[in-house]
Amino acid sequence: ADVFTFDPGFTSTASCESAITFIDGGKGELLHRGYPIDQLAAKSHYLEVCYLLLYGELPSAAQLEDFEGRVTKHTMLHEQMMNFYRGFRRDAHPMAIVCGVMGAMSAFYQDSTDINDPWQREVASIRMIAKVPTVTAWAYKYSIGQPFVYPDNNLDYASNFLRMCFAVPAEEYVVDPILARAMDRIFTLHADHEQNASTSTVRLAGSSGANPFACIAAGVACLWGPAHGGANQACLEMLQEIGSVDRIPEFIARAKDKNDPFRLMGFGHRVYKNFDPRAKVMKESADEVLELLGVENNPVLQVAKELEKQALADPYFAEKKLFPNVDFYSGIILEAMGFPTSMFTPIFALSRTVGWISQWKEMIGDEKQKIGRPRQLYTGAAYRDYVNVEDR
Ligand code: CMC
Repeated sequence: ADVFTFDPGFTSTASCESAITFIDGGKGELLHRGYPIDQLAAKSHYLEVCYLLLYGELPSAAQLEDFEGRVTKHTMLHEQMMNFYRGFRRDAHPMAIVCGVMGAMSAFYQDSTDINDPWQREVASIRMIAKVPTVTAWAYKYSIGQPFVYPDNNLDYASNFLRMCFAVPAEEYVVDPILARAMDRIFTLHADHEQNASTSTVRLAGSSGANPFACIAAGVACLWGPAHGGANQACLEMLQEIGSVDRIPEFIARAKDKNDPFRLMGFGHRVYKNFDPRAKVMKESADEVLELLGVENNPVLQVAKELEKQALADPYFAEKKLFPNVDFYSGIILEAMGFPTSMFTPIFALSRTVGWISQWKEMIGDEKQKIGRPRQLYTGAAYRDYVNVEDR
């Protein structure tokens, strides 16, 4: 019989070669095309990082202007897609809607589904990056029963998204630049993270030759789980459930109890065995945004800070090298901005779309890449003959 390496969860299998993102989990380092995430978060902005991930280099001023212009041109959704939204129940989770709408794009934008045509691949990529804020904002508007807000191409990427989420026709809406900056930073910090579960899903779907919209929808589906992108929603709900600083020891004890399935959400990572560098930036951002909004005494933030302190001082977390990850503070910022918890994971999906696309494009261009087809160790019944139902 064939012999295979058994590697459930792919803890020691490299599925591809990639030149996009590098993580040193021991050092807590994350580089995009060589550039460290903290420098990108501080000095760059999301669309520039998108360009870097997609094309490999930082753009010149002219290249950036051209790229931003191309993205901006594609922010609208086909008008008929509104009917597609209306088919969903109002109480549907926005992730269900985002997943459905991203997949449905392959029906609406058939002229960019031929993966063998480099021009179509490029158009599909730009379309998805441009439209995903509209897709996500509309999922939110639909869920709260407000009219859809069309994109405003005079605004930057993050401001446009905030406006599509929070503007109503009856009132003027002015985007606060500090909130827009914080939103942009959340997008930037989530832009790519090498071969995580959803990215591997996108690559696997893409390896069969499926169209890019379908592949990204597969990525959205995978991201939804609480062990992955769903952790930001789960984390804020946990912090709210803890409620006050005096209840923290009880929850830490539960997280350490092997007979209790409870885990500290926003803690631990498959690759980082040190601080998640994204969590550091997120924490600073949380302080900034909450101060701006005049809610620095927000009880959830107090619980988060104290929980982080107590967990880091606890030998259980130290021994297992469990540190706060990117999701630990992002939910606090999003909540302060006015997003309900159900929007946290869709916002992660929005941000990660560029990473999925960059990895998909890289894979399509890689001649060594075959269809992804893992093998298995079979543990079922040996050969046996069929028995007629009346004889069983
Ligand atoms: N709280 C308590 N114990 C934990 C936690 C936690 N958050 N995370 C891991 N452990 C323990 C786990 O019980 C295990 O203990 P033992 O070796 O005694 O069985 C050990 O640490 C290793 O955990 P694992 O589940 O084998 O590690 P993994 O690499 O398979 O899982 C993880 C990584 C992120 C799924 C996990 O740490 C977790 O469930 N964290 C909470 C959810 C979360 O915050 N996810 C977001 C990840 S970052 C954003 C993203 O990429 O989507």
